[in-house]
Amino acid sequence: MKIALIGYGNVGQALARLLWRKRRDFPFTITGVHTLRHGTAIDPRGLPYTLPDNAPAFGPRARSIEEFLDAARAEIAVELTTLNPSTGEPAIGHIRAAFARGMHVATANKGPIAHAYSGLRTEAARAGVQFRFESAVMDGAPVFNLWRHTMPGVKVLGFTGALNSTSKVVIETMERGGSFDDGLAAARKMGITEGEGAFDVQGWDSAAKTAALANVLMDAHTTPQQVSTRGIIRLTPERMRKIGSEGKTVRLISRGRRTSAGLSLRVRAEVLDRCDVLACTPGTSNLILFHTDLMGTFGTVSIDPGVEQTAYGVFSDLVDISLVDISLAI
Ligand SMILES: NC(=O)c1ccc[n+]([C@@H]2O[C@H](COP(=O)([O-])OP(=O)(O)OC[C@H]3O[C@@H](n4cnc5c(N)ncnc54)[C@H](OP(=O)(O)O)[C@@H]3O)[C@@H](O)[C@H]2O)c1
Repeated sequence: MKIALIGYGNVGQALARLLWRKRRDFPFTITGVHTLRHGTAIDPRGLPYTLPDNAPAFGPRARSIEEFLDAARAEIAVELTTLNPSTGEPAIGHIRAAFARGMHVATANKGPIAHAYSGLRTEAARAGVQFRFESAVMDGAPVFNLWRHTMPGVKVLGFTGALNSTSKVVIETMERGGSFDDGLAAARKMGITEGEGAFDVQGWDSAAKTAALANVLMDAHTTPQQVSTRGIIRLTPERMRKIGSEGKTVRLISRGRRTSAGLSLRVRAEVLDRCDVLACTPGTSNLILFHTDLMGTFGTVSIDPGVEQTAYGVFSDLVDISLVDISLAI
């Protein structure tokens, strides 16, 4: 199938490498790449893969997303632009433009899922296309596809997650005696921050993930602004030393649960025992626990995920879309 990439940063480039590596078994073709500052590259017959860095030959930027999608003539649009946690734009507009052209969409961008999931799901169904977003919350580890494919009849009553890697790097840096800014600089160097990292430490990244999980798994119709959120910006090395001396640590935790009054959604820096399951995974690992009616509590953990795992999540969506497309064609 033909793919149009919107955004060609860390994830877009990792996805291009993965598609090249798996080209024999999964013959996807990239027919267009559209970026903000680098311009646009289009060849409806397929862009050549150029080693070593696989940078397409960018020409002038298409004047609009509509012009780009029309020219790329792809069957799937992959939305990989920068997160905007306040509105989910321009990614929501990009996805709508793809649906309007009868294109399937896969995205790793949590903004549209956190702000407009229910509307986008309806629009995709109306257009008869697939809409997938496995990498939006936990890189490539199965979260949404776990529920799509393996848990028939089970209802999600709530979730608890340690879902933000940057805050963990900052906390662990302070535990080792460094400053808050040292930790943020280390996270930036690892390429794991959203923008400059402010969205992570203020809790916005976690709030967007919390809203996305609630919208998809609990039919919430919520936004990140409606998640009660406090980040880690008040933590200091002194406070972390004191907490550490008591055998405890801190993690930025997302919690969602159904209550008699509706849904309760919150993000907090929580003090936890070092051996708490939410605190004991190494490095930049992420973890989510689902609380359910039939399966008790169970979860998914991803140990030290990187951008290659995010790209895999998008790839798994592309494979899924291609299989659904083939089965509909038979
Ligand atoms: N990095 C991760 O490990 C990770 C994990 C999970 C989810 N995600 C999500 O995946 C998405 C991409 O992340 P990333 O790390 O690849 O970001 P990135 O490195 O900052 O790249 C973003 C890309 O989007 C392009 N872009 C921005 N605004 C655009 C617009 N209006 N129109 C067209 N292109 C636009 C940029 O163009 P220029 O190159 O010209 O600036 C760039 O190519 C984000 O939504 C992020 O939240 C990332």
